[in-house]
Amino acid sequence: MSEARLSADRLLRRLAELAAVGDTGDGGCSRLALTDDDRRGRDLVARWMRDLGLIVTIDAIGNVVGTQPGFDDGVAPVMCGSHIDTVATGGRYDGNYGVLAGLEVIEAVQTAGVPLPRPLAVAFFTNEEGSRFAPDMLGSLAFVGGIAVEAAHDIVGIDGARIRNELARIGYLGGAPLPAAAPHAFVELHIEQGPILAAEGTAIGAVTGVQGISWREFTVTGQSNHAGTTPMRLRRDPLLVAAETAVAVRRIVAEMGDPQVGTIGRIDLDPNLVNVVARSATFTVDLRNTDDALLRSAEARVAEAIEYLAAAEGATVTSRPLARFEPVAFDETVVCLVETVARERGLTVRRMPSGAGHDAQMLARVCPTAMVFVPSVDGISHNPAEHTAPADLTAGAEVLAEVMIRLART
Ligand code: GLV
Ligand code: MN
Ligand code: MN
Repeated sequence: MSEARLSADRLLRRLAELAAVGDTGDGGCSRLALTDDDRRGRDLVARWMRDLGLIVTIDAIGNVVGTQPGFDDGVAPVMCGSHIDTVATGGRYDGNYGVLAGLEVIEAVQTAGVPLPRPLAVAFFTNEEGSRFAPDMLGSLAFVGGIAVEAAHDIVGIDGARIRNELARIGYLGGAPLPAAAPHAFVELHIEQGPILAAEGTAIGAVTGVQGISWREFTVTGQSNHAGTTPMRLRRDPLLVAAETAVAVRRIVAEMGDPQVGTIGRIDLDPNLVNVVARSATFTVDLRNTDDALLRSAEARVAEAIEYLAAAEGATVTSRPLARFEPVAFDETVVCLVETVARERGLTVRRMPSGAGHDAQMLARVCPTAMVFVPSVDGISHNPAEHTAPADLTAGAEVLAEVMIRLART
C-alpha cells in the first residue's frame, strides 16, 4: 500500500468530465490541438490544478504545468503528465489518463500529507497528437529545447491555422520560460494503445523506449481532365499513383517484417469531384521502427517506389518532412523502478517498447524518464471504442504514485 490513497472514483469522474468536452456522441472525443474544444478541456484541467493549490504555469507553446507549492525554486520536481489533445476520432483515455492520474496522485499525496523533499508536478503538453499541426509531440519538444519557439509558432496546420495565432486566440500563449528547467525525473502513465498486455493478461507495461517515427507528406501532380472524354491511355492520374503507393507501402513493410509498420492515414484529392480526373493527390506516409537504420531503409524504399510509380503515370512528385524522431531508450533505473513497484503490488509486469509516440520520448532528452502502460481492450486506440477497464486504470495510477514518491526521495 502506498502512503497516498488514491480515489478511483475521483479519477474516473474526472476522466468522464473531460471526455464530455468534445464528446463525439459515440464514446469518443474530438479535441484537436488549439481548437475551441481543446481550450475548454485545458480550462477544465487547469482549474482542477488550481483547485488543488498547484502553481500553474503556461509557456509560449501552451504547455501547462501544475507544481506543488512550498519548495525552493531550485528544487526540481518529479514530473508526470501527458497530453489532453486528441485525434479527431479519439478515445477518452489516450493522454487524458496520464494527466488526470497525475492530478489524482498529487491530490492523494497532499491529502495524506506525505513528506517529500521535492515537489510533484503534472503537465499537459501541447499538440502531442500531431493530427492538426506537425510534428507530433510539439509541446514537449519545445519544452526540452528541441525546436525554437519562433519556428514552432510559425507551423501551419492542415486547416491553414498558424500555431501562434491559435495559442493567442484560445488564451494559452503563456510566458513561462522555454526551454523549461529540467525536471528531476519524468514518468508518463498511458494506455498501451496496442494488443500485447490485454492478450497476455499482463497488468502493467514497463516501457523501455519509443520506436522511431517518420512522417512525410507527398504531393503527386498529374493532369486534371474530363472523366468522360479522356481515354484511359492518355490519363496522368495522381490518384492511381497514390493508390499504388499504398500497395507498395504495404508490400515494403511486409518484406521488412516486424517491427516495421507503415500507414497512409490522410489523403486529399484536388479537386475531388466525381467527374474530374484529379490534378493532384496529397497524402501522408507514417513509418515506424525501433531500429533507426531499418527506418531509414523503409523511408528510402518508399521514396523510390513513389518516384517509380509517378514516372510510370507521367506524374511528378514533391514531398516535405512532417516529423522525424529517432528511437528513444528510457532510463534503465526508472524502468526497473516501475517493474519493482508493480511486482511489490502483486501486479504482473513485462518490459515492452512503445509503438506510439509520447511526450516522454522528448522529456527523456533532459532527465531520467520512463513510462507505465496499462492494457487497452482489444488493443484499440485512436478510435472512439478505445477502452481500459477501471481496475486497470486504478492499478496504473497506483504504480505511478509509488514510482513518483520514490523518485522524489532519490
Ligand atoms: C501519437 O499519438 C502517435 O503515436 O501518432
Ligand atoms: Mn497519447
Ligand atoms: Mn494519440
